[in-house]
Order: sequence, then C-alpha cells, then structure tokens
Amino acid sequence: MSTLAILGGTPVRTAPMVTSGKRFDETELHELKEALEQQTLFYWFGEKVKTFRKQFAELYGMKHCHMVSSGTAALHVATASIGIGPGDEVITTPITDQGTIVAIVAQGGVPVFADLDPHVYAITAETIAPCITPKTKAIIVVHLAGSPADLDPILALAKQHGLRVIEDCAQSYLCRYKGRLAGTMGDIGCFSMNDFKHISAGDAGIVITNDDVLSERAGLYLDKGYRRDGSGRRPEILAANYRPSELHGAVAIAQLRKLPRICERRNALGDRLTAGIQGTPGIHPHKVLEGCASSYWFYLGRMDPKVLGVSRDDFVKAVAAEGVPVTPGYIQRMVYEYPVLTEHHAYDTCSYPWDGIYGRAIPYGPGMCPVAETIEATSWRAPITEFMTEQDVDDIVAAVRKVASHYAAAAAR
Ligand SMILES: Cc1ncc(COP(=O)(O)O)c(C=O)c1O
Repeated sequence: MSTLAILGGTPVRTAPMVTSGKRFDETELHELKEALEQQTLFYWFGEKVKTFRKQFAELYGMKHCHMVSSGTAALHVATASIGIGPGDEVITTPITDQGTIVAIVAQGGVPVFADLDPHVYAITAETIAPCITPKTKAIIVVHLAGSPADLDPILALAKQHGLRVIEDCAQSYLCRYKGRLAGTMGDIGCFSMNDFKHISAGDAGIVITNDDVLSERAGLYLDKGYRRDGSGRRPEILAANYRPSELHGAVAIAQLRKLPRICERRNALGDRLTAGIQGTPGIHPHKVLEGCASSYWFYLGRMDPKVLGVSRDDFVKAVAAEGVPVTPGYIQRMVYEYPVLTEHHAYDTCSYPWDGIYGRAIPYGPGMCPVAETIEATSWRAPITEFMTEQDVDDIVAAVRKVASHYAAAAAR
C-alpha cells in the first residue's frame, strides 16, 4: 500500500482539477439580442419568458409552468398558492438551503423537521409520519444534490392525511424517480436557476404544476396579485413582485437546450464515482434508489469513523492531500440550528409565527434529527460537473480508496 500524501507519500494527483468552464456562449447571446430587439423587457409583453415556460412545461410533460425571479421565490409562490397561512405546519428537511424555510415562514407557516434516510439524504414517509399534527398542511420534499427522495410512500401518506406536497428540485434537474421526473409528482415542483445550479439565468426560478387552480394562483402570487390577461385591473391578493425579466427568459431558453446533455454527463460521472468506491472499507457511496437516476448537483459520500479509526475532518484532509477537491459535509449546521429558528426571530418585533396565537413554539435546536446530524458529521463532498473528465473522477476514486484502505488497515491492527 503506498504512503498517504499527508504522511509524505506521492499524491494521487498533482495537476489542479478543473471543475468549471464556459457555460454561456453564442446561444445565450443570440437569445439576449432578440430579447433586446423586442424593445420591451417586460415578461408579459415579450416572447422570451413565454417561450421558456412553454418549452420547460413540454420537457417536463406538465400542463403549467411559471418563471419567477429565484428558487426561493418559486417556493414562496408554491406555499402561497397551496394556501399556507399563519400557524400552518409544513414538514421538511433539516439539510437544505435557507430558501426552503423562507418560503414557509414568509407565509406565517411553522417549519417542522423530519429526519432523513441515512444514505439518500431525504425525508421519508417513516420519518414524516410522527411529525404530522392537526396543524400540518403540507410537506416540502427536497430532492438533494440531484438525487430523488423516495416519493411514492410520501405521496400515499400525504393523501391519507390530506396534505399538499411541494417538490423542491432546486438541486435536481431531470432527476428520475422510477421513470418519472422529480417535480412532476407532487402538487407543485420548484426549481432554481441561480448561478450555482445545473443551469443558470443569473438568478431565476421555475414553478410547475398540473393543477389549473394552483397555476392560476401562482400566476397572481408571482406578480403582485395582478391578472395580466386583461380580465382584472386591480391586484386580487397581497403578493410580492417575483417577476422575471425578458433577459432572464432569454438566457433560460438557451440554457434549457443544454440541460439534457449537462444532466446526462453528471449522471454518468456520478455513477462512475459510486462504482469506483463501491466496497471500499468504511465508505458509503451517495445512494441513488433502485430504478432512479441522479443528475448529481454534487456528490455526497459518507465515511464511518469507527471502521476507519479517524475523524471525518482528518479523513477529508488526507483525501484532499492526495490532490483532489474533496471537502467536509454540505451545510455544516442543521437548518434548525440557525438563530432565526432557535430564537424564533423571523420578524424584528415579535416571535410570529411561533408566538402561541398562531403557531406552536417549537424548541428548535441540536438533537432534533439525529440521522441528519450524523450525515452532516460524517459526509464528504466531491464535485461532479459536466466539465470534468473520467480521469478526474477516477482520481477522486483512487484518493478515497487509498486513504480509506490505509486507515481501515491501521484501525484493524
Ligand atoms: C434545495 C434548495 N432550495 C431552494 C434554494 C433557493 O434557490 P435560490 O437561491 O434560487 O433562491 C436552493 C438554492 O441554493 C436550494 O439548493
């Protein structure tokens, strides 16, 4: 067995790994030029946002698609459209972006956190069930890092209790659950096109649904309550301005053309990483459920400190020393450890919506979801992007195998 680089041995790789590249080109420029030539950048007057909505709906086989200004906006439009109001409880995951939580609390809803599957990293029907109370109105399932949650049992549970299901697909474009696309199975699917996602419009978001009423409400909630088809002149509801501009629509059209190739490539590279590290002592690959496909926004593997006899941080330091960009965990802290929740301090002057008039004063803090906390404490993250080569992935595999085998052998002695 060769000596670890961290102990003075030769690293697996010396050349820096290039994980990003040119994602905008003539395609975007052409669409942007056309958008500007319209002499209007308003989404309702121009053709770009309309075209994007039509094409995204077609790609996903959905009746309705709306474009909005961010993924957070998409989720907020979704919680508003399904009628989340003060004190309503929404069950979701403690490992997600803050945007998921903003969408709940901005409607006066109370986030309730269910624990996760230890290797898929998503909430499950088993973990959601004990969180359901008479106040529960909805579930936001986050398909994390490109991989699908086990949705069928969640949909069955939701149906049994009359709950709405929002799919947060911000990290999971063209992610397949038993042949169906993530985002098409719940009441509403939400996506982000911020600059870090599979496709970017700088910032933007997408809402899809097959429900005519929800789609109509979403159209109002994204645009200050205005009905733009001319049938009503006054705002019908109180709503924010989450409109995209035609410039966002133009870039989104171009990016959408590239999406299938981006996801196919990420799927192949991520699965290659899994195949390469499968069976390594003390290492758990990023699990993708049987019959499903991930589009890997990133790769989140786990290590077992008992088998390897080292801490996660020491393991990651040793892997990184082999010359590959592996880093510890994902969000570092559970969402329920953020002060905005632990201190019930979403609004400056009061503890709404946890103030007892509306909602339950849930005591958020460490220990709520032990499996999720263990995932965060024992996971390592590797990049997967369409710009990477097979050799890049093979080097990550070699580094993880080399370090894990070394520590596992030392621990067994
Ligand atoms: C799971 C998840 N939900 C919601 C969001 C919010 O999206 P945006 O940054 O576009 O508001 C993100 C973005 O990072 C995300 O990863």
